[in-house]
Amino acid sequence: MGKAAAETVVLAVNGKRYEAAGAHPSTTLLEFLRTQTPVRGPKLGCGEGGCGACVVLVSKYDPATDEVTEFSASSCLTLLRSVDRCSVTTSEGIGNTRDGYHPVQQRLSGFHASQCGFCTPGMCMSIFSALVKADKEPGRPAPPAGFSKLTTSEAERAVSGNLCRCTGYRPIVDACKSFAADVDLEDLGLNCFWKKGDEPADVSKLPGYDSSAVCTFPEFLKSEIKSSVDQANGPAVAISADGWYHPKSIEELHRLFDSNWFDENSVKIVASNTGSGVYKDQDLHDKYIDIKGIPELSVINRSSKGIELGSVVSISKAIEVLSDGNLVFRKIADHLNKVATPFVRNTATIGGNIIMAQRLQFASDIATVLLAAGSTIAIQAASKRLCLTLEEFLQHPPCGSNTLLLSIFIPDWGSDGISFETFRAAPRPFGNSVSYVNSAILARTSGSHLIEDICLAFGAYGVDHAIRARKVEDFLKGKSVSSSVILEAVRLLKDTVSPSEGTTHPEYKISLAVSFLFSFLSSLGNSSNAPTKVDNPNGPYTNGITNGTTEHLPEEYIKADSNDLPIRSRQEMVFTDEYKPVGKPIKKAGAELQASGEAVYVDDIPAPKDCLYGAFIYSTHPHAHVKGINFKSSLASQKVITVITTKDIPSGGQNIGSTFPMTGSTFPIGDEALFADPVAEFAGQNIGVVIAETQRYAHMAAKQAVIEYSTENLQPPILTIEDAIQHNSYFQIPPFVAPKPVGDYNQGMSEADHKILSAEVKLESQYYFYMETQVALAIPDEDNCITIYSSSQIPEVTQGVVARCLGIPLHNVRLITRRVGGSFGGKGIKGIHVACACAVAAFKLRCPVRMYLDRKTDMIITGGRHPMKAKYSVGFKSDGKITALHLDLGINAGISPDVSPFMPTIIIGALKKYNWGNLAFDTKVCKTNVTSKSAMRGPGDVQGSFIAEAIIEHVASVLSVDTNTIRRKNLHDFESLAVFYGESAGEASTYSLVSMFDKLASSPDYQHRAAMVEHFNSSNKWKKRGISCVPITYAVTLRPTPGKVSIMNDGSIAVEVGGVEIGQGLWTKVKQMTAFGLGQLCPDGGECLIDKVRVIQADTLSLIQGGVTGGSTTSETSCEAVRQSCAALVERLKPVKESLEAKAGTVEWSALIAQASMASVNLSAQAYWTPDPTFGSYLNYGAGISEVEVDVLTGATTILQSDLVYDCGQSLNPAVDLGQVEGAFIQGVGFFTNEEYAINSDGLVIHDGTWTYKIPTVDTIPKQFNVELINSARNPKRVLSSKASGEPPLLLAASVHCAMREAIRAARKEFSVCTGPANSAFTFQMDVPATMPIVKELCGLDVVERYLESVSAADPTTAKA
Ligand SMILES: Cc1cc2nc3c(=O)[nH]c(=O)nc-3n(C[C@H](O)[C@H](O)[C@H](O)COP(=O)(O)OP(=O)(O)OC[C@H]3O[C@@H](n4cnc5c(N)ncnc54)[C@H](O)[C@@H]3O)c2cc1C
Ligand code: FES
Ligand code: FES
Repeated sequence: MGKAAAETVVLAVNGKRYEAAGAHPSTTLLEFLRTQTPVRGPKLGCGEGGCGACVVLVSKYDPATDEVTEFSASSCLTLLRSVDRCSVTTSEGIGNTRDGYHPVQQRLSGFHASQCGFCTPGMCMSIFSALVKADKEPGRPAPPAGFSKLTTSEAERAVSGNLCRCTGYRPIVDACKSFAADVDLEDLGLNCFWKKGDEPADVSKLPGYDSSAVCTFPEFLKSEIKSSVDQANGPAVAISADGWYHPKSIEELHRLFDSNWFDENSVKIVASNTGSGVYKDQDLHDKYIDIKGIPELSVINRSSKGIELGSVVSISKAIEVLSDGNLVFRKIADHLNKVATPFVRNTATIGGNIIMAQRLQFASDIATVLLAAGSTIAIQAASKRLCLTLEEFLQHPPCGSNTLLLSIFIPDWGSDGISFETFRAAPRPFGNSVSYVNSAILARTSGSHLIEDICLAFGAYGVDHAIRARKVEDFLKGKSVSSSVILEAVRLLKDTVSPSEGTTHPEYKISLAVSFLFSFLSSLGNSSNAPTKVDNPNGPYTNGITNGTTEHLPEEYIKADSNDLPIRSRQEMVFTDEYKPVGKPIKKAGAELQASGEAVYVDDIPAPKDCLYGAFIYSTHPHAHVKGINFKSSLASQKVITVITTKDIPSGGQNIGSTFPMTGSTFPIGDEALFADPVAEFAGQNIGVVIAETQRYAHMAAKQAVIEYSTENLQPPILTIEDAIQHNSYFQIPPFVAPKPVGDYNQGMSEADHKILSAEVKLESQYYFYMETQVALAIPDEDNCITIYSSSQIPEVTQGVVARCLGIPLHNVRLITRRVGGSFGGKGIKGIHVACACAVAAFKLRCPVRMYLDRKTDMIITGGRHPMKAKYSVGFKSDGKITALHLDLGINAGISPDVSPFMPTIIIGALKKYNWGNLAFDTKVCKTNVTSKSAMRGPGDVQGSFIAEAIIEHVASVLSVDTNTIRRKNLHDFESLAVFYGESAGEASTYSLVSMFDKLASSPDYQHRAAMVEHFNSSNKWKKRGISCVPITYAVTLRPTPGKVSIMNDGSIAVEVGGVEIGQGLWTKVKQMTAFGLGQLCPDGGECLIDKVRVIQADTLSLIQGGVTGGSTTSETSCEAVRQSCAALVERLKPVKESLEAKAGTVEWSALIAQASMASVNLSAQAYWTPDPTFGSYLNYGAGISEVEVDVLTGATTILQSDLVYDCGQSLNPAVDLGQVEGAFIQGVGFFTNEEYAINSDGLVIHDGTWTYKIPTVDTIPKQFNVELINSARNPKRVLSSKASGEPPLLLAASVHCAMREAIRAARKEFSVCTGPANSAFTFQMDVPATMPIVKELCGLDVVERYLESVSAADPTTAKA
């Protein structure tokens, strides 16, 4: 084969032509967009198709039909070369500052659906593509004017693949639903378009939508494509010089395989390349074969015998084709709709999935469902074509890279006597998570439920590939369904489904397979005229409650597939005009800018000249000497420019990566090293930084590092709390922050009627999962100075550590942070390491260096929440009054102290929400060889508050009384509150918790719902509901904060504050406060000033003493500093105003400022606000009810409803505070239910990406989500009487955990399950997180068998099969 010249990729990006000549074939579309075009909307959030931050719209033009097809795609997985001659539309392309924003962007901001904004462009594009798809679909009725053809249920699913860590999704769904033809606009939540409750909702108030407004395919590209058609039909292209080959026929492909160019180790064969999201490339490839251009692989043939799908048909296309068929096809389509995400399915091919299942043991859904449907496949290996059953193909040894899958054939089973069902159990019901187990079952039955034939397929349970349960099939053939037959089948299945060694949750997976078989067979047994008495678990899913007990329950309440319930919400709050424009729910400052993708984050800053990129090499060993760093011999290794280690720290500098800031304290809190030297003290510790020409090369090169370790003369690592206790490995707790006991524990115990001794509860860690990973860009400057752009939420501290690390004075280091794509505490101490590493590299190399961590590295090195164990002994009276509590608390702090010495006092502080009578504790902050744990939203408080609930529930279960009775009995009165909290308790009039709790838990509505739950549980066997109400108390501390207000000559205003905008709405509140503070100078009280205020980035050399952003109080203290600055300006400007007024009456703002400027009035004022010494902290209160439904067969939980009441004081901005409440709550739901931050036996994080770490998605939030912000008594010592909102509401998510426990209790009662140390159906511990396997285990792994045994024993007639 000859070599041809390199081909130039031509594409349109937002209508503009781009040529990419000589791009490396491994370049992704995302990388190209972000580095070679001005586009910054698509963001890198994960690089594995799992987050949606990079979603773009790809449009293809077919010159034959003159048609354009559009679809969303993840640009992080799409290879640049594969979009040759395509048009790409990004969020900037549909709307921007210059050309005007698109209604999607305007509505996202108007519905308050953007906080940090990092996910917003991706959300925008997912919504936009859903609109394009719906509006282009022929046959749909025209929507009412102003709407799209999209339906509300499609709107909810449009963003099912996009992650957002800030908002809790509810407002995003509302923004999307506002386009839906069938929406009732009154159902939508708080927005800026109409005043809910006061004004009618009306589409004319929304930014107008016109489906044809955006051109997705420019004419010039169409012309180019038309003129190149002839060329495309010409002779086959020879091997491309740039390593990208796209054969046009199978023969051509085989010639290629046979050529000496082909080497299976270096050539990558791709269809859509989404497989690289699953199996990350370990090395760079410089040769690619793209098989999508082979027409034979795209065939779709439908005949009476079945449907043939070419292997490169996308999953979305397959869904479209199959949806239009009979039962089996439709069910397959339904199942495929839960595979991956919409933007992955649009490109991912069926063939790629099957090959991954066959060759790489991928836990495929598609292989399982197609296996059950009796599919066959056609392959070509060398020159041989073969037709095999899918089962045969899967059983073959992994196929070689020159085996080509041609097509898949799914037979048409007709509908006579055919039953077909598919199953998958996964943490997210709408997809975007691989299943624990999947299954599909096809049966042919005759008249009296006789199974004539059956095919049982199971996959993903820890098996090489999907299998057929042949023995079970043989047993069932010819049998009529009865409980004893099902029981026998289940027993046989348990012998068949055998997860391989090392599979996680093997027993759970077996029980899932059993549940699926049971569900299927019992649905067969229950079809019309079924004689059997098997209780159909599918019944409640689809038909409501069994036994005819439904008449008193509203239709929706009993509708059993609760996942299909629409998301509804209610927001209640009181607005006041007292301090306007403070207090108004105005939209977030810069929200549209965030939606369009123009908002600049650190990685969006254009690369300075000669910029290099770094990636960490980290230890995988918990305690070992680092003897050397070598690199594998690979293509990626060739990209290494240099490796930065401790030896590169300038003389005079220190090997320091972070420290805990404690102004004015002499207590040694401690530093953490930047690089392991000479010993790596934990897995995940940085050893060095690989420097390369691009960020991707740096990441790939870092993967090639081979570290030489030696454990000689080193003690074994201390990894767990138990190890630490055994070795007395603790951090000291500074005496001034040590928590204080209350009363006399022994005395309290002696007064108790009952005692629980040494019960234990455990909480695991949680990862921040901010959408923007840690990033810094360091630019060396003259005279040993350096400027660092960092995603830090603590720039001042970072500046200090960088200065120490480089050995230069603080004034040589300028730290700039404009905005941060989510932080939640993780961009505090942990972010300093990244800034320091960049600084050291930039100093050494004398050029700019950027590091944008990949998701895996970020997850491995950043630590997260503190895992802990609490052992408690509690004494109580028979009426439920608790008299004494003792807590033994073990906290795993990791290698360095960080914030950990403060954890005991915070945990105990939150636990004190109840009056324990007498409280004693022993807290141990354990020093271990794992990544140090740091502050994460509600650090310590969330654990303390939860531990309190676990104890209260335990007491209630021992006394067999309702948990709320015990809660209420032990809530403080103001007197005891003051004993437990001291000065923070404030005044009696501000203690709003009891009334809040009563409002929720004693309301007739709650009683009614509790009765309904009980009713539901007595009528349903396989689904159980629980309801629970949880109170919270949260202390916050006020810290000194600076602010500076500068009025420009034209009247525009620049404001600087100590805090950093991390999505919490700081800038919005500060803008409002500035307008309020200067408002006395304006005729309208300041509202006209809002648009004149710009809050500018944090810059440590411009505004000093910025302190830290955290602890929920930064917004209010920054506001107060700004208010003081404004007061100084008002003082100076008032005389000018008065003199102008004397001459001209009313004075406009611009005239006032012009005059003041001419009069040389100092128009800039700065204040450093410090808290009143008598009011350094205050308490926040809230209460939340959650109602959940647990699927006893799978362990899945649906949150049916959450009602949160939060005392926000006089909110500075109710829309911002509402967003904080909702977002924090959903982050808490993740902590309590699903987020497993798992580590291996060396302490190395192994849940290190979107595949294994599952934060909540739109399908896991409460179906009814109500929030009420209340404004308790005023307190002039708080900033305009407001309260904090950033962290406390996260604690309310414990209500979900508690409700789950109630539901599980009902299941245990139903099936008499007694597991756990207490060995009782009622008393059991449920640790955090309560994932599906844990829930199922507590409900009973063997409930199906138990049930079948009891039914078979009770009715011998059905027992005879
Ligand atoms: C975020 C995400 C979530 C996912 N979730 C699920 C899920 O829930 N359930 C599920 O089943 N799957 C899931 N997948 C897998 C997804 O279905 C596959 O990645 C996709 O179908 C692969 O198709 P592709 O065209 O991108 O293959 P590629 O990535 O291009 O190729 C994958 C492999 O197959 C080979 N190959 C491709 N086509 C052929 C062919 N015709 N003949 C021979 N070899 C071929 C390639 O050489 C490569 O080795 C998920 C994927 C992602 C990225
Ligand atoms: S960055 Fe592409 S899906 Fe996450
Ligand atoms: S706003 Fe969605 S991740 Fe921050």
